[in-house]
Amino acid sequence: MNPLPPTIADLSDDELLALYADGVGDPWLRVNFVTTLDGAAAAGGLTGELGGPDDLRVFDLLRRTASVVLVAAGTVRDEGYGPMVLHDADVAWRREHGLPDHPVFAIMSGSLSLDADSRVFTAAPVRPIVLTSAAAADSPRAAALSAVADVVPCSAAGSPDEVDAVLVRDALVARGLGAIHCEGGPTFFGALVAADLVDELTLTVDPSLEGGAAPRIARGSSPSLRRMRPAHVLRGDGDVLLTRFVRAGAPGAAGGADAARDSG
Ligand SMILES: NC(=O)c1ccc[n+]([C@@H]2O[C@H](COP(=O)([O-])OP(=O)(O)OC[C@H]3O[C@@H](n4cnc5c(N)ncnc54)[C@H](OP(=O)(O)O)[C@@H]3O)[C@@H](O)[C@H]2O)c1
Repeated sequence: MNPLPPTIADLSDDELLALYADGVGDPWLRVNFVTTLDGAAAAGGLTGELGGPDDLRVFDLLRRTASVVLVAAGTVRDEGYGPMVLHDADVAWRREHGLPDHPVFAIMSGSLSLDADSRVFTAAPVRPIVLTSAAAADSPRAAALSAVADVVPCSAAGSPDEVDAVLVRDALVARGLGAIHCEGGPTFFGALVAADLVDELTLTVDPSLEGGAAPRIARGSSPSLRRMRPAHVLRGDGDVLLTRFVRAGAPGAAGGADAARDSG
């Protein structure tokens, strides 16, 4: 029988952060998802039942090092996101490492169906960014949101109604927000894959079968297969597997797998 991967409980937060930092470039776009064994991105419409405490531990740690947390509007609405406020331990770690207390919250929306009075905006410790199309950025909704967020048009020339994923990434990088941590969701992930923007996928595999009602973690269409390679696999509470894959050809990251193996 193959040995199981090392358990995450044996690793300190610093050891885990070192694993997830291995081979990371600047800029770097990391995407984080949880999936069931049969590829479901949700159960009963939400992710709450999937992943468990160690997935949550990694979820929080990945936010800790981000300059910006990027989430598409469907996930913000469905999952009921609040303001991007990190835990005290994360804030302390960021201060020690010369980072602002909290990452910027960037929301990607084509329609701007976002409530400017929601706590996402009114309780934000840092002014959020809303990335949208050029047409939407010129609308009354944009005017309302501009009171509480920076509304940034990201449309390619000649396509004012489309949000261009490359321009979304570029807009964040131009603001000095190169450590981009994306928490989904599937529609946006599909656009990132299509535009070949994914440097890393951290994917928690929940050992459950959902049956097929839920979406998979990416939807859309990509002109070609995007190759990734494994950086590490860890085992978490409830027998979840916490995997990390980086873009094939990206420098580094091989040491991450070794480090994970050595720790087991
Ligand atoms: N398994 C996981 O780790 C995970 C992670 C995240 C979400 N989820 C699940 O995924 C489901 C939501 O799926 P979803 O596909 O609706 O999520 P999504 O990608 O977060 O949201 C889709 C919405 O985001 C905006 N958007 C995304 N890509 C766009 C593009 N290329 N151009 C313009 N706008 C774009 C649009 O917002 P507007 O409508 O405002 O224009 C679109 O309606 C929920 O069940 C959630 O629980 C699972």
